[in-house]
Amino acid sequence: MTNKQIELPYMDFFLEAFEEGDSELIKSVGRHAHWGYWEAPTEANGSGSDFAKAAEDMCSQVYVAANVGDGQSVLDVGCGFGGAIASINEGFTNMKLVGLNIDERQLERARNEVKAAESNQVEFVWGDACQLPFPEDSFDVVLANECIFHFPSREGFFAEAKRVLRSGGRLGISDYVPTEILQPFLKLWNLSGLSSIIYGKCDLSYSLTDYHRLARESGLKILREYDITVNTLPTYPFFRQIMEVTATKVRFDLQAEFKLTTDLSEWASAQGLMRYMIFSMIA
Ligand SMILES: C[S@@+](CC[C@H](N)C(=O)[O-])C[C@H]1O[C@@H](n2cnc3c(N)ncnc32)[C@H](O)[C@@H]1O
Repeated sequence: MTNKQIELPYMDFFLEAFEEGDSELIKSVGRHAHWGYWEAPTEANGSGSDFAKAAEDMCSQVYVAANVGDGQSVLDVGCGFGGAIASINEGFTNMKLVGLNIDERQLERARNEVKAAESNQVEFVWGDACQLPFPEDSFDVVLANECIFHFPSREGFFAEAKRVLRSGGRLGISDYVPTEILQPFLKLWNLSGLSSIIYGKCDLSYSLTDYHRLARESGLKILREYDITVNTLPTYPFFRQIMEVTATKVRFDLQAEFKLTTDLSEWASAQGLMRYMIFSMIA
């Protein structure tokens, strides 16, 4: 497989900009393609390196919640450019690390960027989150960092995560979780069949109640769920700034939707209507 398998215009944009050597963008989102986590959000300074550190901290929030430790086998589903695998590879020993993605171009970047540390094994494989190409009981930890909303179905992914996890293994997830007030609007958006021009197909309609049902029906138990929305808020001004700097390189329709989506998401997050949550579950 050499081509992307899914329409994700933001990924096309990132990969093209990386190819052109956009060093600012590489510094900020070249490793992690997700929101940042600031322990002290008022201290965010808007620089690329500040965002890169916040993205690194977000990634560790998820794998710490999933209890990643030395000697484990870890699967990162929807692994982007391999940032979570890189981070775990740098921090832990005797690891078997596998990143999986449906977009071969991102896997290619991950393979070039992430080399296994001495005692670790690292592999990046092509696959769909809802049809994981691994036997049952293969992993101690499965991670899904800010990607589950793109998958064909959360139910399908949960069933697959449970299947490939050993008994007692952990699933770590970060996702946007709407309140019950916002949920009907997001369900209507899904029914309309529309895709975001910049973010592609995203189903953001799963509430906390839905997460509890998903865990119950797939035989997973939620150990921890926590709301870190306030720690992610500096992401929005940073993204607006990226777009201002790179605006001339981006199609007008992408620019316009990027601005609208960023403004709306920031508003919904600041109002407490859309939460950014981390879940840790046990198989
Ligand atoms: C917002 S990015 C997050 C990437 C990465 N987890 C990170 O945090 O840097 C969403 C990722 O999900 C991947 N993805 C989307 N649909 C997928 C699927 N069905 N199976 C596997 N990966 C998928 C995309 O290619 C992309 O890498």
